[in-house]
Amino acid sequence: MSVTVVDTKRERTALSLPWGEVSLPLLLAPMQGLTNQALRAHFIQQVRPDVVFTEFMQVNAAAAVKRLAPADLRQMTAAEDGVPLVVQLVGHGREALIAAASTAQEAGAVHLNLNMGCPYGRMMSGLTGGGMLRRPADLVELIPALRDAVAGTFSVKLRAGYDDPQQVFSLLPLFESAGVDFLILHPRTVVQEYAGLADHGITAGVVAATRLPVIANGDIRTAADGQRVLRQTGAAGLMLGRGAIADPLLFQRLRGEAEPEPGKEARSRELGSYLRGMLARYRTLFCGEMQVLGKLKAIIKHMDDPELAKTLKGLRRAASLRAFTALLQEL
Ligand SMILES: Cc1cc2nc3c(=O)[nH]c(=O)nc-3n(C[C@H](O)[C@H](O)[C@H](O)COP(=O)(O)O)c2cc1C
Repeated sequence: MSVTVVDTKRERTALSLPWGEVSLPLLLAPMQGLTNQALRAHFIQQVRPDVVFTEFMQVNAAAAVKRLAPADLRQMTAAEDGVPLVVQLVGHGREALIAAASTAQEAGAVHLNLNMGCPYGRMMSGLTGGGMLRRPADLVELIPALRDAVAGTFSVKLRAGYDDPQQVFSLLPLFESAGVDFLILHPRTVVQEYAGLADHGITAGVVAATRLPVIANGDIRTAADGQRVLRQTGAAGLMLGRGAIADPLLFQRLRGEAEPEPGKEARSRELGSYLRGMLARYRTLFCGEMQVLGKLKAIIKHMDDPELAKTLKGLRRAASLRAFTALLQEL
């Protein structure tokens, strides 16, 4: 008698990735302090990323019950306006992370992601984020346990290594056997923080070495960058961070639905429309003019456009929301 073994983990991988049947999906990166609900809503309305991520949500290892902040729990959902939402957790300790994953799912999350890249987590007493890569032995139990605790997709976002950019290769068998659904690789080391360039030669190596879908992330600021990374790596898709914060239309440019290299006039118009849109949304999400102004400046911080340097400098220096709004009217 022959027995058919159904590998449920593989079935789940094939059938229910957050981006479904979209080939070469474009994901909006999780960015603490930036990719809040209002910014996600703006991107969804304007450029419709194939998947959006929450900012990292900190798991409180010390709390007996409330592992996640109430404000974070209010954001739990499978999709925002039809675009799949991945909820990202950062924390440490098996118990705490599993409890947080359960709470997140009870509150409505379907796609969960573990942050194994944030460089600041290495400074904390319990190793979190990129700090987790300092003690890979701890991951052997943690990753399968978390995978099993998540009914929907479970993915990992990681750096290439803690201080060795080849470390990721040693973790691939664990991610595969645990049934992780997909990986997002930012090919810098944790200790490197943001210095130098993302080495997508490593991404190409990882894509070749694993059967898991790999999403490439890091230093994609133009459509040409994105196309080059796809060609170089064979990645399943791209995750856009700072490049998209600076220029949301990067999504459309990569899809061939917006001018790949717009002129100065067009960029100035696009900047005005983006910031006016975010101003309106931030006025409803945040209270207090200075908080709104600070949040808008956090976006502008990631813009580097020599031809619009004077405008950007003025916006960065605006001392009040009124002054900021007046400058926007000129765009
Ligand atoms: C201000 C800022 C906040 C970030 N917050 C997060 C975060 O919450 N979770 C995470 O996994 N990565 C976070 N990252 C890393 C980005 O998601 C991304 O991996 C990194 O910026 C490289 O991609 P990029 O070159 O497209 O920006 C953050 C990066 C920046 C600059």
